[in-house]
Amino acid sequence: MELIHPQVQAYAERFTTPDEPLLREICDHTLATHAHPNMLSGHLQGKWLQMVSWMLRPRRILEIGTFTGYSALCLASGLTEDGLLHTIDIREEETSTASAYFARSPLGAKIITHTGAAAGIIPTLDEEWDLVFIDADKTGYREYFELVVPRVRKNGFILADNVFFHGDVLEEPVRGKSGKAIRDFNEFILGREDVEKMMLTLRDGLYLLRKL
Ligand SMILES: C[S@@+](CC[C@H](N)C(=O)[O-])C[C@H]1O[C@@H](n2cnc3c(N)ncnc32)[C@H](O)[C@@H]1O
Repeated sequence: MELIHPQVQAYAERFTTPDEPLLREICDHTLATHAHPNMLSGHLQGKWLQMVSWMLRPRRILEIGTFTGYSALCLASGLTEDGLLHTIDIREEETSTASAYFARSPLGAKIITHTGAAAGIIPTLDEEWDLVFIDADKTGYREYFELVVPRVRKNGFILADNVFFHGDVLEEPVRGKSGKAIRDFNEFILGREDVEKMMLTLRDGLYLLRKL
């Protein structure tokens, strides 16, 4: 399902500050070499993540799903002087690609990369999160939310990506285990009274949650 009209997308991109060279390079290289380049957040969503980071000026960010490092560099842009971003990916290939990009960025010193299953790593991180970006395996979203929410500070934020799952959440019955997991996650969040929620119609849908 085409969620955003291509003309609207192109128009919005034209009126958005272009990516800086390193982000452009990650994007181009991922598109040229990766089997699933559409997993990368991309220009508009990346700029949104940067803007959110500058608005919040977070001290601690957790990213679940590093991929090739694009969104981590976007999210890290507004970190405080002593700020840190932890990012987790299960695939060694992705974390080593991302780490090489982080090393070339002035933000690299603020990014800590973890390789392994997010459900095992999250409980080992002794931090209080200002911002969490959930963007890994869709069947894990609910577990990731439940693991992180006690450690998100009051009025801290959680962003969950792909909450339309290419429009599959609108199908009846919903197709595939990831589409079903996302639909169940959205329903689960709707029932949570400890977060204020707003579903953003950006790209494949972003769920923005504020811990009450
Ligand atoms: C959609 S991509 C992340 C995209 C990235 N945030 C961006 O915007 O550029 C999802 C990533 O989650 C990782 N992943 C999948 N299952 C995981 C798990 N159980 N724990 C940690 N990472 C996982 C995948 O290897 C993949 O790199």
